[in-house]
Amino acid sequence: MKGIPSVIDRLNKLLTGELTAADQYFVHSRMYENWGFKKLYERLEHERVEELEHASRLIRRILFLDGVPDVASRAALAIGTDVPSMMKNDLAYELAVVANLKEVIAHCEQVQDYETRHLLRELLADTENDHTHWLEQQLFLINALGLANYQQSAASDIS
Ligand SMILES: [Fe+2]
Ligand SMILES: [Fe+2]
Repeated sequence: MKGIPSVIDRLNKLLTGELTAADQYFVHSRMYENWGFKKLYERLEHERVEELEHASRLIRRILFLDGVPDVASRAALAIGTDVPSMMKNDLAYELAVVANLKEVIAHCEQVQDYETRHLLRELLADTENDHTHWLEQQLFLINALGLANYQQSAASDIS
């Protein structure tokens, strides 16, 4: 099915966002693992896989619309140096993805591509409800408990 070029372009920009997020979480999750924060590693590894699932759904949609998926482009990574800066950088990225999704959802509405809009609504729900909310909770807990206590609980299941 021939898609609308302005939609395909935007889907490719969203694809770059998902692949960039997956790369950033790839590095951050392995940093957590290296430091012994097993729970943080497992949670961020789950997010990394979810970003690749989002990327997969975007690639399928671009192909269905007879577009060419751009799997090579990446935005700049923001790799942190400690737990709070890593979480702040990841939250900033998730919020940017939310804003981009909203822009493309509004565009799809304008050009009456309701199926793409539906797919992006699902991606928006994952992005807002899952990772973004979890990151906000962690940053709240770091504030409330203090970093040392938070990190102790994040490392609590070391064997
Ligand atoms: Fe995503
Ligand atoms: Fe995400």
